[in-house]
Amino acid sequence: MRRSGSILSGAAARRLPERAPDGSIRRAENQSRTGEAVADVKRVVVLVSGHGSNLQALLDAAAEPASGMAVVLVLADRPGAHGLERARRAGVDTAVVRPADHPDRRSFDLALRDLVAAARPDVVCLAGLMRILGPEFVRAFPGRILNTHPSLLPAFRGAHAVREALAYGVKVTGCTVHLVDEEVDHGPVLFQSAVPVEPGDDEDRLHERIKQEEHRLLPLAVRLLAEGRVRVEGRRAQLVTAEEVSR
Ligand code: GRF
Repeated sequence: MRRSGSILSGAAARRLPERAPDGSIRRAENQSRTGEAVADVKRVVVLVSGHGSNLQALLDAAAEPASGMAVVLVLADRPGAHGLERARRAGVDTAVVRPADHPDRRSFDLALRDLVAAARPDVVCLAGLMRILGPEFVRAFPGRILNTHPSLLPAFRGAHAVREALAYGVKVTGCTVHLVDEEVDHGPVLFQSAVPVEPGDDEDRLHERIKQEEHRLLPLAVRLLAEGRVRVEGRRAQLVTAEEVSR
């Protein structure tokens, strides 16, 4: 099925987003089809461009019985993204929004925003999405978008972080899981993990070891954010206990 330059599959994006007065999109109320409240399973939408190993880590974590979260939609910016196949195998709805189907970046962002919003996410996770998302997208999900980046930010922002770290000759690099704001690879940091550069590393080998850390931290960050256990003050993101969440 094709709609506004998007390729949808499954039951993706059925409902219209509900907007707050500030333009942000309301979180899901978890309800069954008949309207009664069901277990508070947090809804996660994942955006990918490629291989999708981080997506796989999220799917695996969500499949754990007590995870309390479900990946409800996987979106890609290209139909060939292997992440889509991983989602299908896990029985998760998928959609593709191709920049080439939109006249400009803004309309691409809006199409993406509306699809994501219709899935009523508690958390939106950028897991290897190789696109910069504009303000219309970011403002729709305030404090709810997570990204993983393969360097210790603020070092080596951008699309070639591992290559640039190697070229610079650093001895230690790593990954950063952070909230997304309107600047690239910039929002408050939730987790970082250091990965030593080993003699003989090339980009692929080093990136694989960095990804192992991402696979560990990203699902944890998604769960904590979904549970409301992340408090942000300025640039500082702090974890609070489950008891503090209800205060
Ligand atoms: C990850 O290292 C992520 O940090 C970067 O792209 C890579 C995606 O890997 N933005 P995968 O598609 O999850 O395997």
